[in-house]
Amino acid sequence: MRVIIGNDHAGVAVAEALVEVLREMDCEVKHIGTFSTESVDYPDYAVQVAKAVASGEYHRGILVCGTGIGMSIAANKVAGVRAALCAEPYSAALSRLHNDANVLCLGARVLGPGLAEEILRTWMTTEFSGDRHQRRVDKINSLD
Ligand code: RB5
Repeated sequence: MRVIIGNDHAGVAVAEALVEVLREMDCEVKHIGTFSTESVDYPDYAVQVAKAVASGEYHRGILVCGTGIGMSIAANKVAGVRAALCAEPYSAALSRLHNDANVLCLGARVLGPGLAEEILRTWMTTEFSGDRHQRRVDKINSLD
């Protein structure tokens, strides 16, 4: 699976840890940074990741900022993106099963690296269940 990951200055350490996890999971990973704690603007990273997923170049996207909120708001502006902000594994699983989320947003200042990893593993390994949920996702997609 091809995965693209981006983060702002608040998400550097967590994003770097998640890149290692994704590589261990045999994903092809593109990390677009930022790579330092110097302040940057999260929408610049959200839009790059969101567009790369919407175009089909990458199967999934991961975005990390302080809370994950700004990244999720920005990513969901891009047509074709269903970005889910998750703070625990149950929501991560349901965002895949019911919503076919293709971008995962995480809050580095909310989660420790251990919980972020657990959420990521759950999200990456849970498939969309389709069926009645496909009809609902189609309705979301028709809003693009
Ligand atoms: C940066 O200070 C912070 O606003 C950002 O990382 C994020 O939490 C925005 O939603």
